[in-house]
Amino acid sequence: MMACAGNAGDVGMRRHFRVSAVTSASWYRYACMEAGRWPQCLSLLESMRSEEVQPDSIALACAAQACRDGRNQAAASEIQDEMRQRKMDYNVAEILNDATLAVDFPEVRSPVPLGALRPMAQKEVQLFKWIRQRATPGDVQSVIKVIEEFAEERSWLKIQGEQKKELLEATLRPEDRIVEFGCYVGYSSMVMAQRLRELGGHGSVTTCEVDAANAYIARGVLQFAGVEGEVQVRVGCACDWVATGQLGTIDFLLLDHRGTIYHEDLHAAEPSLSDKAIVFADNVLYPGAPLFLNYIDVQEYAIEIHELKAIL
Ligand SMILES: C[S@@+](CC[C@H](N)C(=O)[O-])C[C@H]1O[C@@H](n2cnc3c(N)ncnc32)[C@H](O)[C@@H]1O
Repeated sequence: MMACAGNAGDVGMRRHFRVSAVTSASWYRYACMEAGRWPQCLSLLESMRSEEVQPDSIALACAAQACRDGRNQAAASEIQDEMRQRKMDYNVAEILNDATLAVDFPEVRSPVPLGALRPMAQKEVQLFKWIRQRATPGDVQSVIKVIEEFAEERSWLKIQGEQKKELLEATLRPEDRIVEFGCYVGYSSMVMAQRLRELGGHGSVTTCEVDAANAYIARGVLQFAGVEGEVQVRVGCACDWVATGQLGTIDFLLLDHRGTIYHEDLHAAEPSLSDKAIVFADNVLYPGAPLFLNYIDVQEYAIEIHELKAIL
């Protein structure tokens, strides 16, 4: 709980950070997504300097990435030299990930900047391409199926497949306002959105993902599947999103992010849980979440444990 309380207290700092990171995120989108347009990215850097605004590490890292993508290695090296002199980290993946701990990038929509995301999420970028080649746009079932095929035929994915998926579907109720911690590429979010449709088309899914690359890919996957209107992806740490109060009332909380902090994040989310709320937590037995199990026992939750086979 300490970690969450500490994060919630940094609101002032975050607001400042948000401005610079959101500006930079637009750059990132502008420059990296349209990889060939590094000259515009450089001229944006110039205009910042002429306005006496010192470009921050994110802005510089994104510009360097754009130059590398546009094969202007000389300009990229120059920016990296500046960052080195200013003792900045110039790894765009790390910087972007740090930024997502504090902010969301609502303006980042598809097309997903696959070239820029590849170094951060090679397998997930491959998955996204696989989906686009094999699934039917707007057909959520076909996207779900194609993700399962990828996990079986190409590479293991950390998703709630097989028996877990069946249990998840069986537990949902019509009109559930669902919040998920741990979106990854949006597989379980799609399963839940699809199930809500079957149950009558009401309810909603909001999912939090701390890894920016995963979140961008999830947004692309959800859009491809035609459920982007039903699933909102929030980029950032789950407990930070809880602290904002923007997740709304929760009828169904899916914990699928990090077993070691399930108990802390559940505790933080408790004021938002409705009277009929169900908390659905994955992997509590293996690799296990003993602190969480102890917490729900002490708090006298009505507990059901399901021991399931999980290959996917
Ligand atoms: C097991 S995967 C989620 C799988 C997804 N629920 C599914 O079944 O398709 C866990 C995800 O949680 C994310 N994650 C880890 N810690 C987090 C946190 N504190 N807040 C939000 N997301 C987190 C990871 O980046 C990873 O993508």
